[in-house]
Amino acid sequence: MTDLAPHHERVLVIDFGSQVTQLIARRLRESGVYCEIHPFNQVDDAFLDRFGPRAVILSGGPASVHGEGTPRAPQRVFEMDIPVLGICYGEQTMCAQLGGGVEAAEEREFGRADIEITAESPLFDGIGGVGHQERVWMSHGDRVDAIPTGFHPIAASENAPFAAIADEARRFYGVQFHPEVVNTPRGAQMLRNFTHKIAGLSGDWTMAAFKDEAIAKIREQVGAGRVICGLSGGVDSSVAAVLIHEAIGDQLVCVFVDTGLMRAGEADQVVSLFREHYNIPLVAADEEDRFLTALAGQSDPEKKRKTIGKLFIDVFEEKAKAAGGADFLAQGTLYPDVIESVSFDGGPSVTIKSHHNVGGLPERMNMKLVEPLRELFKDEVRALGRELGLPDSFIGRHPFPGPGLAIRIPGEVTKDKADILRKADAIYIEEIRKAGLYDSIWQAFAVLLPVQTVGVMGDARTYDNVLALRAVTSTDGMTADYFPFDHDFLGRVATRIINEVRGVNRVVYDVTSKPPGTIEWE
Ligand code: XMP
Repeated sequence: MTDLAPHHERVLVIDFGSQVTQLIARRLRESGVYCEIHPFNQVDDAFLDRFGPRAVILSGGPASVHGEGTPRAPQRVFEMDIPVLGICYGEQTMCAQLGGGVEAAEEREFGRADIEITAESPLFDGIGGVGHQERVWMSHGDRVDAIPTGFHPIAASENAPFAAIADEARRFYGVQFHPEVVNTPRGAQMLRNFTHKIAGLSGDWTMAAFKDEAIAKIREQVGAGRVICGLSGGVDSSVAAVLIHEAIGDQLVCVFVDTGLMRAGEADQVVSLFREHYNIPLVAADEEDRFLTALAGQSDPEKKRKTIGKLFIDVFEEKAKAAGGADFLAQGTLYPDVIESVSFDGGPSVTIKSHHNVGGLPERMNMKLVEPLRELFKDEVRALGRELGLPDSFIGRHPFPGPGLAIRIPGEVTKDKADILRKADAIYIEEIRKAGLYDSIWQAFAVLLPVQTVGVMGDARTYDNVLALRAVTSTDGMTADYFPFDHDFLGRVATRIINEVRGVNRVVYDVTSKPPGTIEWE
């Protein structure tokens, strides 16, 4: 992976397994700095020389430097004459490796804390001088108790006398708190000070530059070959397709499989965007019957997901062959999918849900992969989409899962249920847009429950389904909170749905966060 973005100033983030390491990369990218995250055990001297970092950040992590065999940074990092910033565990291992000391503190410190700046430092440029108090987010047990020669403290908190330390001559910095999380309000500024002021980087990572390089790279990789791209209707595959089309024109064929489990109007929107707006050749397959037949009688969530995933691959393969085959398969893989996470116990992580993608296809069809978005985070994909002229209304759409409405119909999926859900979902989204709330919500959707309740409409008794509404805020889908609609809004949506959608006589709102819930119901 060291061949990514070779013409840019690159920062290396060495991962010690913190839950929030990805956020370091996000903050850096937001200020125009290209960086990559690599696990500590895969960074050796040869890697460092190849990568050529202009600065290194050592992440936090769950280990204690006192534990036997716990991770260390390659010593060479401190010998390359480049700035190094250690965060939390990163600070502790830096101190331990450079001759300082770390103790297991009696008072562990989790959550909000205030630090006081005790010495001027470029790390705090624009934030404050000596005596300034700043809110930060702490999460640590161990703490530094003796700093290595050459260092001096630049900030202290009640429980951490070395909350921030610096060796300004060697440009080594350590912070006990987490500047990468939003709960450290001016943490992004500190990271920017590190990259721009201390490391002297110019911030040369822009979407316009990325687009031109990506196009050149696709042309080089593909040559005169043919590329096939599966469109899901989502932002990632659409941006990948438009980018590839800009690079190689009609050597690209797109396939869109309508599973019958899409939202209202979705299939038409995708077809018209590609055929009419971009004039990109598109094979559209209406496969509703096949998907619903395959799902008949199935109510186990994992079996439903697997059935859809497998059939999707079958259909895609057929359509790809009918369109003349291809040498390459394009996928909208993003950087978070590429980052290898550090596992300390070496065990596999638990599968909560098997996410559907087209994995397995390239081998089966003997195709190579084109993944032009591998370096990007989701927000960067959106920026690239804008650069490529995709309409804002398309780019800003809420995420939609591969298995579609099937996982929003707990129990068996039928066409009738899918139609009811589509109608109700469209009303809900329309009301959210009318209220001007769409862009404040990460994802909103309706779920048709396999539960019937008694109601009364006019003078008649009804016995119809319950519909649950879900809306969450999130930054990456990993954690989420329910959206606090006001009660008038919820009442209005419920009334419209019950009046306009036959088959629903009761509406409830889901107020579960993630964790412990997940965003989707299955
Ligand atoms: P959960 O339900 O796991 O969802 O909290 C997190 C995010 O992932 C989406 N999601 C999927 N996306 N294929 C996808 O492409 C899937 O199988 C899938 N399952 C969940 C979900 O909509 C949310 O944005």
